[in-house]
Amino acid sequence: MLRSRNAGAAVQPTAPVPAQTVRFSTPVVETPGIFVLARWIARLVGLLVRLPVRFPVAVGTAAVSVAVWHAFGWVALAVVWTVADVGLLVWWRRWPSSFRRLVALRALAAWRWVWVYRRHWQPVLVVAGLAESYQERQYLPRIRRVTCSAWSDRVRVRLVAGTAPADVEQRVTELAHGFGAPSCRVTVNGPRDVVLEFPRFDTLAEPIGALPVPRHVDLAALPAGKREDGAPWRLRLHGTHVLTVGVTGAGKGSVIWSAVRAMLPAIEDGTAQVWAVDPKRMELSYGRSLFAEYADTGEAAVGLLEAAVSMMQDRAARYAGKQRVHTPTEADPFVAVVVDEVAFVTAYHPDRDIRRRAENALATLTSQGRSVGVSVLAALQDPRKEVLNLRNLFPDKIALRLDEASQVDMVLGDGARERGANAHLIDPDLPGVAFVRLEGSPAPVRVRAAFVSDADIDAMAGGCGRGGGAV
Ligand SMILES: Nc1ncnc2c1ncn2[C@@H]1O[C@H](COP(=O)(O)OP(=O)(O)OP(=O)(O)O)[C@@H](O)[C@H]1O
Ligand SMILES: [Mg+2]
Repeated sequence: MLRSRNAGAAVQPTAPVPAQTVRFSTPVVETPGIFVLARWIARLVGLLVRLPVRFPVAVGTAAVSVAVWHAFGWVALAVVWTVADVGLLVWWRRWPSSFRRLVALRALAAWRWVWVYRRHWQPVLVVAGLAESYQERQYLPRIRRVTCSAWSDRVRVRLVAGTAPADVEQRVTELAHGFGAPSCRVTVNGPRDVVLEFPRFDTLAEPIGALPVPRHVDLAALPAGKREDGAPWRLRLHGTHVLTVGVTGAGKGSVIWSAVRAMLPAIEDGTAQVWAVDPKRMELSYGRSLFAEYADTGEAAVGLLEAAVSMMQDRAARYAGKQRVHTPTEADPFVAVVVDEVAFVTAYHPDRDIRRRAENALATLTSQGRSVGVSVLAALQDPRKEVLNLRNLFPDKIALRLDEASQVDMVLGDGARERGANAHLIDPDLPGVAFVRLEGSPAPVRVRAAFVSDADIDAMAGGCGRGGGAV
């Protein structure tokens, strides 16, 4: 619309150089006002047509209100609204969960779509570097839908053609700050179809006390804490090996103790055993009577691990050609080899022979123990290869608070940090908070382990007097 006076004419550069005394600019053709007006009207009509589809309840309510007011007047409208409000009130009191799902969260989603995401979408995405330009036009990812859960907003987005979800994954911090959320996680639904999840508040801010001991033990789903979405976090131990990584004070103990607590009935009836390696003598010595085997020195630890290897190989020899899956029984119990600060025996112990034997035993257990009912649950502070080069033999990993951003992918695998697993940013005031990958989903999930206090361990040990000596 704006037209420069000398458009289409030769332009004199401010500082002419001999080789470029004359420069031609592209002629600007003025858009007739009627075209501009027609476009505005078309957009308005488009908006009016889309509105009932996007916000059917709001548009329906407004339409009915106008119709009642037009047909019967103000009093009738007030009566209808009062009846509707009372109806909603009754619905809220009697069926709170369906009211929440069908009314409250939908209303919240509409509100947040309009006032948070639509309103700030363009500036945030442009500043975050997610706007693309082609032939002087700007293209932005488009919001397809906003839905709210009890704790987060899920913004489904259509990407600009030619861009990749990785571009968004690299900007999660900018997006989270841009929309005033504590974090942002990206899930890829399909081609050009991603979901940005923005938590509205931290559901894991409060510590979780020790969970009730389950009546029936499911070794493939031990209740260990809570997920960010409020669902229980269940830890698989049977048929896998788990490595818990976190700096000192990150809460590795709470993961170990939550798992032991969830196995308690099986430990009591003899279908599960915990073999514990406790180099620091601080973590596991407290509940020593719960463990079938216990070791707290380098030599004893290696002895315990090698005993586990022999037991495992004996089982494998018995099972060969007869059975492929282990079912825990009193004769052949499930054995969880719990190793606190595993680097002590694999990297820090002064005796080279101990380090080598411990590493060999752990490598054998983690590579062959799965199908014969022997699992390793190990805790580690520093995930670097020099400290534990066996870390890839642990199929499941838990990233508690870490020191550096680069450690996140070391623990959870490539791309975990880009998908929002910012384990290095976990607040030190939130011990037990971790990122994990659940089965069948590449997206990391934030969880918090339940905290098993000394009194809880005392109670557990008191009720389970199996007793076990150091190896
Ligand atoms: N899940 C949790 N919820 C609340 N508080 C916790 C939780 N886990 C741990 N804590 C608190 O953090 C402290 C340190 O936890 P813990 O001893 O488990 O850390 P750690 O990772 O094992 O550290 P280290 O490597 O030094 O042994 C505990 O004493 C407890 O007060
Ligand atoms: Mg510890």
